[in-house]
Amino acid sequence: MKYKIITYGCQMNEHDSEKIAGMLEDMGYSPAARDKEADLIVFNTCLVRENAELKVHGKVGSYKPLKEKNPDLILAVGGCMMQQQDIAAEFYQKHSHVDIVFGTHNLAELPALIQQVKTAQDRTMEIWEEDRGLLPDVPIRRKNDYQAWLTIIQGCENYCSYCIVPHVRGQERSRSPEDILREAESLAREGFLELTLLGQNVNSYGQDLTGDVNFPYLLDKISAVSGIRRIRFMTSHPRDFSQELIQISAERENICPHFHLPVQAGSTRVLQDMNRGYTREEYLKLVDRIRQKMPEAAITTDIIVGFPGESEEEFKETISLLEEVRFDMAFTFAYSAREGTPAARREDTVPQEEKSRRLQRLMEVQNNISWEINQKLIGSSQEVLIEGESKKDPDFYSGRTATGKLVIVPACPAKIGSIVPVKITEAGSWTLYGEITDNSQS
Ligand code: SAH
Ligand code: SF4
Ligand code: F3S
Repeated sequence: MKYKIITYGCQMNEHDSEKIAGMLEDMGYSPAARDKEADLIVFNTCLVRENAELKVHGKVGSYKPLKEKNPDLILAVGGCMMQQQDIAAEFYQKHSHVDIVFGTHNLAELPALIQQVKTAQDRTMEIWEEDRGLLPDVPIRRKNDYQAWLTIIQGCENYCSYCIVPHVRGQERSRSPEDILREAESLAREGFLELTLLGQNVNSYGQDLTGDVNFPYLLDKISAVSGIRRIRFMTSHPRDFSQELIQISAERENICPHFHLPVQAGSTRVLQDMNRGYTREEYLKLVDRIRQKMPEAAITTDIIVGFPGESEEEFKETISLLEEVRFDMAFTFAYSAREGTPAARREDTVPQEEKSRRLQRLMEVQNNISWEINQKLIGSSQEVLIEGESKKDPDFYSGRTATGKLVIVPACPAKIGSIVPVKITEAGSWTLYGEITDNSQS
């Protein structure tokens, strides 16, 4: 029996897909190289913006002919989009070739649902309305054996006014420090070098636990695990980024000097409407505080343009914030109204063409800044964790610096999964190019 998983959305979903893969392999499934070989295809969906939803409809729809040819093929659709009950119900009706629909909260039920469909020879939709505490521990089939994701907190309670995530991921639930450390230690023993701690807001870690447990406390423990060379985390909410967190990140060599700090907008009025909980000035101060302790740290961000009511002047404040902060990189999005969120009840005032123009302008400004920052790295030596073949050309491999920058080097199969020194020879806005300077074979 063979399976395939098609994943949309963020790192949480990517990691959930590793959990789905782990459960399926426990049931005796093995990965299918091609669609045609698969006995089971799972779609792990996202609905953070409208285009994410449209993609899922298109993709799942495109599997109808395959299902007609092979009626024994099981198609299962889960993830955030299916956790919205009304969307899921409509989806289940529209895509009658889909056998199983499940939500984020009952992810661990998937093996039982597969058995049920096999026995009953009928389709099924099961979605739990609420989370029932932490997801149970399930086997995890990781995408490689040197970098691992590690969930520290599930859910989100920030309720940014535009965002659907809290509605589909449930309440904030922190895993116990003991469980997390046990997983970190076992990953270290298996030879993993890099851990990325995952949560929609890692800074909320511990607030729902008893005792003096917070995110810096957890980092302190994890960074002491021997063998773990790199620790990353995402995402950090700027409102909760404490001095204690900056301090420990600066002190520990294995905490990567890279912070993803989504700012979303440069205008305090818009930030307030977004329910972000900080002002432009507070955000700028935070960046200063980080750079005082860690001048070498890379800071990246997310930005939304065209939030309801965003004026041209307010948009210009986002541009001036980019120029002031000089982010290493920014991920930019056009606002997309999500039903069920407070912002969606407001008029979507910025027309699509204007959102596109603002996006275009933002990207021009940011690409220049990223290019200038990266030019300064030419000639420097960077420690790079080599990940494997580059997406564009198998003669080249890609990897990342401690600051999270993508580096392309000539193919070097013996170096996959190792951290090697690379001399940077060329740089663009998004990518660095270089040569490995360590020629040992290990
Ligand atoms: N928990 C993370 C990630 C949330 S989703 C965080 O707080 O940053 C990733 C990004 O998608 C967000 O940072 C935001 O920039 C964007 N996003 C979320 N909802 C959106 C919407 N309705 N329209 C456009 N972009 C959105
Ligand atoms: Fe969404 Fe805000 Fe939570 Fe991030 S912090 S997931 S943007 S509600
Ligand atoms: Fe992530 Fe999309 Fe869900 S961004 S949490 S997969 S809605």
